[in-house]
Amino acid sequence: MSLLPVAVVISGRGSNMEAIARASLSGTSRYRVVRVIADRDSAGGLGRATALGIPTSVVPVKQYADRASFDAALAAELDASGARLVALAGFMRILSAEFVQRFEGRLLNIHPSLLPRYKGLDTHARAIAAGDTQHGASVHYVTAELDGGPVIMQGRLRLQPSDTPEAVSARVHTLEHIIYPHVCSLIAAGRIECRNGAVFFDGAPLAAPLIQENDAAA
Ligand code: GRF
Repeated sequence: MSLLPVAVVISGRGSNMEAIARASLSGTSRYRVVRVIADRDSAGGLGRATALGIPTSVVPVKQYADRASFDAALAAELDASGARLVALAGFMRILSAEFVQRFEGRLLNIHPSLLPRYKGLDTHARAIAAGDTQHGASVHYVTAELDGGPVIMQGRLRLQPSDTPEAVSARVHTLEHIIYPHVCSLIAAGRIECRNGAVFFDGAPLAAPLIQENDAAA
């Protein structure tokens, strides 16, 4: 069985990267992580990847004069890795429309909210401040619109009035570590695909995101 080669791109601690990698190493998924790329050598996830035996590289953002040259270097690194699927996981850069177009349909991101709610930063604090009773995370295909691409799967949990952003962040991460490897597995199995900017699941258009409930984490 050939395994779909996946690259994971990070800026920080890389817990989602590790979840994706561990699921592939368990032998039950049809993908394998062939490279972890960070935009800074201080990214904690680099050490986690090395500990798992995964090759890493750094495209140091500070060494590039502008977004276009950084994006070109990142694209070259991804091409060299042989990856057919790219998972952004805590990658703190906005990518150019040219980059997104080049990897269209094979570029994923995870965002800590129930998109389309709370694009951008501080999602947990914003959900709590709004009095939301549900919150979670979304895995989506990346388009040129920030956090705006079609959503594949969401992990949902209940918010309590007493919740703090820190406590919610930990619970959302637990959900993220379930849904991101799951989506990679579904794509590797050919069950999820992106056609002309729309998500298809088992050959049919996906009318609403797949849902992973986690009330136990509420
Ligand atoms: C996650 O919460 C993800 O939703 C967001 O950045 C965070 C990355 O966490 N995009 P980690 O580096 O995977 O631990």
